[in-house]
Amino acid sequence: MTDITWNTLVTLWDRQQSAYIASREARFDALMDILALQFDDAFSLLELGCGPGSLTRRILQRFPAVHVTAVDVDPVMLAIARETLLPFGDRVRILSADLATPDWQQKMVGARPEAIVSSTALHWLMPDRQHALHGEIHRMLADNGVFLNADHQRFNPADLHKKAISERHDAQTQQRAWAHGAVGWEAWFTLAKEIEDIARLIPAREAVFAGRPVPPPTTVAFQLASLSQAGFSETGTLWQLMDDYLIAGWK
Ligand SMILES: C[S@@+](CC[C@H](N)C(=O)[O-])C[C@H]1O[C@@H](n2cnc3c(N)ncnc32)[C@H](O)[C@@H]1O
Repeated sequence: MTDITWNTLVTLWDRQQSAYIASREARFDALMDILALQFDDAFSLLELGCGPGSLTRRILQRFPAVHVTAVDVDPVMLAIARETLLPFGDRVRILSADLATPDWQQKMVGARPEAIVSSTALHWLMPDRQHALHGEIHRMLADNGVFLNADHQRFNPADLHKKAISERHDAQTQQRAWAHGAVGWEAWFTLAKEIEDIARLIPAREAVFAGRPVPPPTTVAFQLASLSQAGFSETGTLWQLMDDYLIAGWK
């Protein structure tokens, strides 16, 4: 028997992610403020790389008229999102899709989303695949649509001061989080496996990620140029703290 529940895991996930991303909540708030400022309270939304549903939940709570489609490739994350977002009923649809290939688009049915969002996920893709995905997102968005991506963007080695200060800031943020009882990535997965239904999914999770290349870090300049090249008419940074960014592309 374990004391760990699905909802506890989500709480611990949020604390773990906040150890790696200082001001993660402020970044979520900025993303949702932009959605509210652009669309008021009704719009259709697709989330890429939803994990256990942290951003999904915040969007469903803040915008009661909104329906969300959220995709991820990790069977463990999908199971946690499905289980813990059950109270939102048919306002949320959680789908398994691998963004590393263009095939993910075939799973998307229905009206084109007005907003496509993502947090701390797309840096897991190789840069050429990120660029191709930007094109796919651009084509999929409704005509008044916006793409909002909250993610790490790395500094060039030549940006000595920005890189060093940002790395020190990351280290400090983590030290504080561990001192206040947050658990790291590996320890979180160890706890997750205490839930039998999750432990059963671990071999499938390992198979999904086996042999994937580790993407090199990319800069915000790369991201914004890629979005422009992919067809976005306006792009920019709307929030930044050190190497954590919220970038946007308007169709
Ligand atoms: C660090 S987690 C972030 C999860 C969530 N968005 C959040 O902010 O808490 C990164 C997520 O990206 C997902 N991911 C990585 N590669 C992916 C791919 N090729 N297709 C779909 N999802 C992917 C992972 O499974 C994981 O859930």
